[in-house]
Amino acid sequence: MTLSNIASAPADPILGLTEAFRHDPRPDKVNLGVGVFMNEQGATPVLECIRRAERVLWETERTKNYAPISGIPEFGVEAARLALGPDFHQLAAGRVAVTQTPGGTGALRIGAELLRQFRPGAAVWLPTPTWENHKGVFTAAGCPVKEYPYYDAATRGVEPEALCQALEHVPAGDVVLLHVCCHNPTGADPDAAAWTRMGDIAARVGWLPFFDFAYQGFGDGLAEDRSSLLTMLAKVPEALVSTSLSKNMGLYGERVGALLAITETPAAAQPVLSQIKRIIRTLYSNPPRHGAALACTVLGNPELHDLWLQELEDMRLRIAGNRQRLAAGLANRLPERDFAFIVRQKGMFSFSGLTDAQVNFLREEKGVYIVKGGRINVAGLTQGTLDYVCDAIVAAMRSS
Ligand code: LMR
Repeated sequence: MTLSNIASAPADPILGLTEAFRHDPRPDKVNLGVGVFMNEQGATPVLECIRRAERVLWETERTKNYAPISGIPEFGVEAARLALGPDFHQLAAGRVAVTQTPGGTGALRIGAELLRQFRPGAAVWLPTPTWENHKGVFTAAGCPVKEYPYYDAATRGVEPEALCQALEHVPAGDVVLLHVCCHNPTGADPDAAAWTRMGDIAARVGWLPFFDFAYQGFGDGLAEDRSSLLTMLAKVPEALVSTSLSKNMGLYGERVGALLAITETPAAAQPVLSQIKRIIRTLYSNPPRHGAALACTVLGNPELHDLWLQELEDMRLRIAGNRQRLAAGLANRLPERDFAFIVRQKGMFSFSGLTDAQVNFLREEKGVYIVKGGRINVAGLTQGTLDYVCDAIVAAMRSS
């Protein structure tokens, strides 16, 4: 091998869209690909609570020394409490090994490395469909990947019977990846009864749940969004949880997330943490401090915390409003079709049902960028782009 004969890799299906969008000269182009929140001005702003936390840090931070391998300790406590809720955290803190990670993706990859080393041969079962990068992350770490049925295109929702039947047949010791809320890309989450059933199945059959919790606060609220996680954690002895503050604190590029390893006994947590630290040391040594320090400052300061809750609620409500507007805009243009599913879906995304040919038409003919498979980032719509996008979607639907 020489560097000069390496062939190009394909563009990333999500982040590659943003690159293509940047190079698109058309003035009315719209990027509804990557999952980032936009305000009415089309910007992805720094939250005010973060701006104030920056000021606090600017005044109080005295060193840029390395963070510990597992990250800033206060951040770990805050991240676990946020994901698990104060009650569970108080009850089970000794069983939770927490590690600060570079975003949710970092947490997934470190968890995957842990699985490959300590559950060699165990398959990781992913829902169909799932976030584009899940397969890549687990495969790159050397974990075999399998799929379980999740979404039913006919009902545009989760098919609990097929889902639970499939989970009954996952071999003991394998790993099942579950989106805690705001399923990416479909926006369709199981109901409370299905989560209870999945918890019973996991406990009886003996597979390990690996929860991806990247959209906490964007579904029904911080506490509501963790209820499915708590339902399952009440039933299973062990779990992995990947969390992210990219979306709910708007800290995308600061790469702030955490890996929570929940062990059966407190005695098991420390050895797991020590192995996670060994994995991190050889990957990136120790995590960047700044974003986690900002998150810690917000979560640990009552005034900033309240401000954050308000800003998060504003983002959630804006997305809900965008769902209503998109559904109404499409229904006005195509009254014979039902678009109520757009309002029912949760989180940033709407799974539109557009075919790949229609997705290509949108990009090539209209400059509207959405992810292959038909995922639309509803959080990226503004009043200024709404009509154009609705017209473009209708034209795409009529194109094939
Ligand atoms: C997305 O799904 O668009 C986000 O999670 C961003 C990413 O890294 O893909």
